[in-house]
Amino acid sequence: MLTSLRPKVLSILNNESKNVDARLEEICELLRDSIDYYDWVGFYFRNGNKEELKLGPYAGEPTDHTTIPFGKGICGQVAVSNENFVVPDVSAQDNYIACSITVKAEIVVPLFVNGKNIGQIDIDSNTPDPFTEEDERFLEFVNAEVAKVL
Ligand code: SME
Repeated sequence: MLTSLRPKVLSILNNESKNVDARLEEICELLRDSIDYYDWVGFYFRNGNKEELKLGPYAGEPTDHTTIPFGKGICGQVAVSNENFVVPDVSAQDNYIACSITVKAEIVVPLFVNGKNIGQIDIDSNTPDPFTEEDERFLEFVNAEVAKVL
């Protein structure tokens, strides 16, 4: 159950002995290690006032896509839509940026600070169609808690 991870998320985020990026990386590792269908977990953040996202802390294989223009790919679309984007089958998307040929599905949930979309959490899965509303609610919780420490 994803809800059982909530206390762990809180204790990582409240650990003031680490800087925020280290805490976010630990969150990515917790999610990737604990949830078998989460194969790559990362945060993207808006790059200042530019219409682009920059890769932040992540867990999983390094990606070439460290900068993503607004509107491009699933991530870039969420930067402008302000809405969760659940992709059960990435091969059915034409505006999609492939990070690895093993990825079958993706979920991106925007991160709001004071009502402003300042970034997102992005999960890639090697399992087809794995994400449910439980993932959406859990990732909304994670982002709301992350927003408090940014
Ligand atoms: N697939 C994403 C790009 C980021 S990678 O998944 C890490 C997209 O289409 O925006």
